[in-house]
Formats: sequence, C-alpha cells, structure tokens
Amino acid sequence: MSKKVAMIGAGYVGLVTGACFASQGHRVICVDVVPEKVEQINAGITPIFEPGLEDLLTHTRSEGLLNATLDAVSAIKEAELVFIAVPTPSKEDGSIDLSFVEEASHTIGRTLKEAEHWKTIVVKSTVVPGTTENIVGKIIEEESGKKRGADFGLAMNPEFLKEGKAVEDFLNPDRVVIGAIDPKSFDEVKALYEWTEAPVLKTTPTTAELIKYAANSFLAMKISFINEIANYCELLGVDVSEVAQGIGLDERISPKFLRAGAGFGGSCFPKDVAALYSHSKHLGREMRLLKATLEVNKRQPLRTVELLREEIGALTEKSIAVLGLAFKPDTDDMREAASIPIIRKLIEEGAMVKATDPIAIPNAQKILSHSNLEYYETISDTLKNTDALILVTEWEMFKQLTPLEIKSLMRGNIVIDGRRVWKPELFQKHGLIYRGIGLGRRDNKSI
Ligand code: UDX
Ligand code: UDX
Repeated sequence: MSKKVAMIGAGYVGLVTGACFASQGHRVICVDVVPEKVEQINAGITPIFEPGLEDLLTHTRSEGLLNATLDAVSAIKEAELVFIAVPTPSKEDGSIDLSFVEEASHTIGRTLKEAEHWKTIVVKSTVVPGTTENIVGKIIEEESGKKRGADFGLAMNPEFLKEGKAVEDFLNPDRVVIGAIDPKSFDEVKALYEWTEAPVLKTTPTTAELIKYAANSFLAMKISFINEIANYCELLGVDVSEVAQGIGLDERISPKFLRAGAGFGGSCFPKDVAALYSHSKHLGREMRLLKATLEVNKRQPLRTVELLREEIGALTEKSIAVLGLAFKPDTDDMREAASIPIIRKLIEEGAMVKATDPIAIPNAQKILSHSNLEYYETISDTLKNTDALILVTEWEMFKQLTPLEIKSLMRGNIVIDGRRVWKPELFQKHGLIYRGIGLGRRDNKSI
C-alpha cells in the first residue's frame, strides 16, 4: 500500500532512500535546509553524483511521487512516516555530534503537538546505540506532550548503502533491519519495503543501531587487518593479493573487503568506528580492536609515500603525480579520502604535486589548496614531466593505463600502486620501477 513519507535531510542517504521509496509507489517529500538542493531536486537534477539516481528522480517526479521542500513543518504534517536522515558527524574526540538529529526531533515534536493522525518517526541516520529511544523519542514526547506507542510510532531503520552503488544496494538489499518500539511501528516501516524479498529483521531500536555500527566496524576491521598483513608481506617478499585470495576462499572469511591498499575513507567507516569506540569507552568497555582498526588506517595512506621515498630519496623539488582524489572510484566524495594525507605529506616534504580525478577535483579544491599543488583535467597533462606517480583511487580509466603510455608521458620511471590494480611484471618489463602496497621487493627481504 502506498504510504506518505517525509524525509528530513536530502543528502546521500536521504535522497537515495526517498527516491527509491518513491520508485516503489510511495509519496515522498524530501526536506532540506539548503535552498539550491531543493530547487535542483524539484528540477529533476541530483545534487550528488550517484549512478541511477537522476533517472529515478526524473521518473518519480513525472509521476508526482517525489517533491522537495524547505518547509519541514508542512512536510511532517502531511506524512504518515517521518524519516530523520540528517548528518551525524564526528566531533574532535571521535564521539558523535547529534545536534542535527536533536534539531530534527524538536521540529517533529512541535509539529506532532498539533497533529491529528498517527505518525511513525523513523531514524535513518547512523546514531550511537540508545539514541532513538533516549534522545529522539524523549525530545518528541517533551515537545508534543504525546506518548510513544500510544500517540506516535518510533523506529530505527539503518541503511547499508555503498556510495556509487547506493540505488542498486537500496533496491536489492541483503537484509532490512527494523528496530521498532512496538508491532505497530514495525508494521508501518515494513509496509515501505513490501517489494523486497530480503530477510526483514525485527529488533529493538538499540539493537538496530548497534547492527549498523557493528557491520561497518567489522568491514573496516577486515580492511585494516589485510593492510597490516600487507605491510608485513613487504618485508617477506610476499604478495598480499595471493594471501588475500588464499584466505578469502575460506567461506568463513570470504574474499570481499580484503583488498589491501591506501586505507579506507568515506563518510561512514572512519566516523562510525570512531563513534562506536568512543561510546564503548564512555561506557567503560573500551573496544580495543576498534582503536587498532583506526590506528592502522591512519598510518596506511602514508605507506605510499614511504614506498616512494625508498625509490626516489628526498622529495624536495620532485614532481609527483597523484592519480585519484575521491575516497573510492565512482564518486566525487572527498570525505576522509586517502588522497588528503598523501598530498599533504608530499607537500610537507617539499614535492610539487600534480593531481587529477575524473569528477572529484571541485570537491578536492575546497579541502586542498597550496602553491605546490596543481589540478589537471587529463591524465596526460597530469603525468607530463613528473618524476613519479602514486595511484590513490582505482578509477577504471587509471586501471586501463598501460606501462607504455605511462612511460611516454612521465619524466621519471617510478610507479607507486596504492590500490594494487596493475600487474607488476608488465611495468618492470618496460623499465618502470613498480612498487605496490603489500608487495615485497624480492631483493629487499628482511628475513
Ligand atoms: C547522513 C548521516 O551523516 C549518516 O550518519 C546517516 O547514516 C545518513 O545521513 P549523508 O546522507 O551522507 O549521511 O549526509 P549528507 O550528504 O551530509 O546529507 C545530509 C543532508 O541533510 C544535507 O543535504 C543537509 O543539507 C541536510 N540537513 C542538514 C538538513 O536538512 N537539516 C539539518 O539540520 C542539517
Ligand atoms: C560503506 C559500507 O560498505 C556501507 O555498507 C555503509 O552503509 C557505508 O559505508 P562506502 O563508504 O560507500 O560504504 O564505501 P565502501 O565501498 O564500503 O568503501 C569504503 C572504503 O573502504 C573505501 O575507501 C575503499 O577504498 C575502502 N576499501 C574497501 C578497501 O580499502 N578495501 C576493500 O577491500 C574494500
């Protein structure tokens, strides 16, 4: 049955979720505080780069199922379900900043005071365990004078979307987790997901909140684990990709999220692991594995610069190409991207940096600007007259580069593969010095 949904926050998660619900016949109003975003959505243009999203916007808007507004109050009044999908950034100390979630809860509570019909409030933002019940539920009750369960529903419904594959992930989920305070709230949220055959897990809101954190922490830990193995492989003259293949074939381990490289970035892994760690410490049960996961990841991007230094010596006055700026391919998202510490370190050591990315340059320019850093639109302009290159983001166009092309463009011959996308033998055959994360030089074994 078609439901009326208000989505507070039309960012990556809110807009994808809203557009996907609308594609299944639900009526969705997206609310955002940024006027340009609202205008763009209402013109069928997506403010973010996400494959498949623009088609979905055009299609759902033409059927009158998706709209955007700045007016939260009227959107909430209209809705049967109100989703909170506002940002939950990290504070300096790694703990979570819930101020946007609190603000949204106040607005919802005030609007609920006047509401005649039942509404279910659903937290979509990633929040520390306990937030939905102890903060969101409490604020809404205080503002509205109404009681959860009796006058309004309350649930937590985490997202498991990968950027660049968010629409696909949403429409083909591995599972749907609905943490609800009562059967009515559960049924209301479940009605939105009638189209999927994926298992639907019924939990409490706090369990749902923890499932999201535990899932991201486990995946992040897997990456830090293989990166630790990679760094050790370098000393043994062993190739980490063979080790990853060898362990990944064990069904209990699986080959996914075992790609060693310059570390994980993005809007979720670094922030969520830090928030869960900080919360566990706050409660007196410090999760040391999470701390180690973050420490390994902080060091990991700089391994590329260390490999470079082993080949080139001092970096002063050297011209270094950086291929890839986004935190992963197929997105323009620069949040916690490995390119940031890598470029900062290169500049700190006196190098001249030439950087490129198919779509993330405008976002990178907002974060990284220096007289020794220049951005280029094309690969050939970037590689021209450089002494070495570091591949940071494995965009398909970089993977397709051949040793001959690289050799003809560069001045020097050093290639640092921060994501292990190229075949070392091919590069060596053409006289290039190839170094990759987790690949030992056979001549520099320490054992
Ligand atoms: C956010 C959260 O950070 C994440 O924890 C959660 O899992 C999903 O929502 P994301 O969608 O990637 O992630 O954030 P972002 O792209 O920054 O979008 C948030 C949107 O909310 C922005 O469009 C912003 O303008 C809007 N917003 C922010 C509001 O509408 N109201 C506010 O008070 C603050
Ligand atoms: C992640 C989760 O996958 C998703 O379920 C959650 O909802 C949000 O966080 P996302 O951040 O979009 O999604 O990207 P993902 O593809 O998971 O990659 C995260 C980072 O890990 C990237 O920087 C990527 O380069 C890195 N990574 C991933 C590795 O270094 N090795 C791997 O094997 C996999």
